[in-house]
Amino acid sequence: MNHAPTFCRVWAPATVANLNVGFDALGCALKAPGEFMEFRRVSQPGVHLVNGPNTELPLEVEANVAGKAAASLLHALGNPFGVEVTVTKSILPGSGIGSSAASAVAAVVGIDALAQAGMRRDELLPFALDGEAVASGARHTDNVAPALMGGMTLIDPQGKVCPLPVPTSWHLVVLHPQVVIKTAASRAVLPSQVPLSDAVNQAAWLGRFVHDVHSGNELEAMYALEDLLVGAHRGALMPHWDACQTAAKEAGARAGGISGSGPSSFWVCRSAEEASLVGRALQGVMSAQGMDHHLHVTAISSQGAHVVSQSH
Ligand code: HSE
Repeated sequence: MNHAPTFCRVWAPATVANLNVGFDALGCALKAPGEFMEFRRVSQPGVHLVNGPNTELPLEVEANVAGKAAASLLHALGNPFGVEVTVTKSILPGSGIGSSAASAVAAVVGIDALAQAGMRRDELLPFALDGEAVASGARHTDNVAPALMGGMTLIDPQGKVCPLPVPTSWHLVVLHPQVVIKTAASRAVLPSQVPLSDAVNQAAWLGRFVHDVHSGNELEAMYALEDLLVGAHRGALMPHWDACQTAAKEAGARAGGISGSGPSSFWVCRSAEEASLVGRALQGVMSAQGMDHHLHVTAISSQGAHVVSQSH
């Protein structure tokens, strides 16, 4: 008797990449926001994409992050069945909180579940990166790895994923002004070379950050989140960035910066009360400027993308 599911629903988290101190190398999964994707076995072979509510993505498999990741994994498994994938975006593309990574990892987790393949997360990673590359043109791992594995991850230059201890006492505030910044545009403003002293100091801050989280010094780790290489160049792309930084710091944020390639920003706080004050201060800036925005008061999720329901 075949007990393989014919349907499953997968949740995938938003992610914050870079975290100031680890450009293209560090990232963490968030408890919220997140989004759902549904998978249904169908008799027709291949991947068949459907847009869910408020979603208008290309439905050609090769042009769709989830479609490409799903097709890539299905191919590796020998195309054992056809699948209808319903993609419902609530993490908007161009938000800087890992929209394409959420799609890519949800796709591989869903296919793995329907196929009962039982693959490890590190085995699923290359197939998710096939999907991520559709959006960014490159196999960026700094959002995909934490979205797939949960927690906080550091990726070395050869692609090895190192899970870091999660600072569970951190309260995060994520502000998403409702403008779109494409990763390519945000990378285009970066210099191709940086001063040696900045590279040396950035390496030292990242080293100290990794040391602090491994030592359980979660408060100290906040203070190591220095960005010497990227933020100054990208600030001009961020809506009302100076005002946001001032408001968040005055309200008690201990650290913060640009989330991934923006326009979202992240702020690290020591308590729920502090996070609530910081959130209100940031909303004040956005409202004063008439800027639509979403605000998330959240924390690092130790859990990555996973199946939330399935049926046979
Ligand atoms: N590390 C990337 C960047 C994140 O900041 O451009 C987007 O993949």
